Amino acid sequence: MHCVRKITDDVVWVGANDRRLAMFEGVYSVPRGVSYNSYLLTDEKTVLFDTVDKAVTARFFENLAFALNGKKLDYLVITHMEPDHSASVTELLLRYPDVKIICGAKTAVMLGQFFEREFDLIKVNEGDTFDCGSHTLKFIMAPMVHWPEVTMVYDEKDKLLFSADAFGTFGAMNGALFADEVDFDRDYLDEARRYYTNIVGKYGAQVISVLNKVAPLDISAICPLHGFVWRKDLEYYIDKYKKWSAYVPEEKGVLIAYASVYGNTENAAEAVASRLVERGIKTVMYDVSVTPASEIIAAAFRYSAFLFASTTYNMGIFVTMEDFLRDLAAHAIKNRAVAFIENGTWAPASGKLMRGIMETCKDIRFIENTVTLKSSLKASQEAELDALAAALAENI
Ligand code: FEO
Repeated sequence: MHCVRKITDDVVWVGANDRRLAMFEGVYSVPRGVSYNSYLLTDEKTVLFDTVDKAVTARFFENLAFALNGKKLDYLVITHMEPDHSASVTELLLRYPDVKIICGAKTAVMLGQFFEREFDLIKVNEGDTFDCGSHTLKFIMAPMVHWPEVTMVYDEKDKLLFSADAFGTFGAMNGALFADEVDFDRDYLDEARRYYTNIVGKYGAQVISVLNKVAPLDISAICPLHGFVWRKDLEYYIDKYKKWSAYVPEEKGVLIAYASVYGNTENAAEAVASRLVERGIKTVMYDVSVTPASEIIAAAFRYSAFLFASTTYNMGIFVTMEDFLRDLAAHAIKNRAVAFIENGTWAPASGKLMRGIMETCKDIRFIENTVTLKSSLKASQEAELDALAAALAENI
């Protein structure tokens, strides 16, 4: 049976949740599921905003048919061509063959690439408007948030911003639709941060650009393609986006990530962690061989300083740490203090090599007190640990 939620008198959510997906995009675990949002506007014309992932098409089409209530579907607006939102476009056209697609020029190219067929298109550019009857839609290009074709849409009557991937979150919605129907800060903010930093985190400049473009709009609600609709406390979430996109830490604190084969490097990392906590400094620790990189990257966007500890392995950085650091650097993290612990039984080299990766990032303040272990931490190194903790404390 259908399961829809009303947003305004004229706009209905017709999306669906997926709690069976193991890995979003094949990379990001989603243990709490994910939603694929689609919205139907009913005016003199009916307009659907995006479709859904192929995993949830059955529920989506039931929802759409119910929301249309026997009306014909006139238009599909495509705000994002990634297949988690566009996979159902051709099936939509089989069911509703008269639908015209409203999209940007880059979207039109991608439509042709994904689906080898002709489409009935109305192409729009930045600032164009489209009249649906009493509602007028305004198109706002949002390149690289998260793909180059992304197009946000502002409904001038209901003051809704259809924001594509921006302002989304991982996590199924479990009956809620609006962020104010859950304890978002307690239950969803971590997943929202993990979603933003891993999906869009590399494109901070482009996110800032579109935040500036939508800033003058009078927005009553933000309708993203994943997760909750925001109709209250918009500034809370927009402020998070401002920080994340500018690579400004949300909190002063130290993220410790370590790779340790036999526990000796971990021992040193914990010894520094204890010293930091004794100083009252917020400290989080992750074993990069155990915790998925997406979680540690999200924490990296949250905290102001990093301590990376790794054994030397085949004359390089331990494999899981090297993979993590390259992933972190690829997400363009910047404006952080960074310290290192290296270990090596015969030729410790991981400190210099880890620093080499972090030197590819901008605005990094390197802490020079690298601690070198020869196989294991020695009692004689207490002063080195104290100095490293003190240097981190001064630089968070
Ligand atoms: Fe949810 Fe970039 O797709």
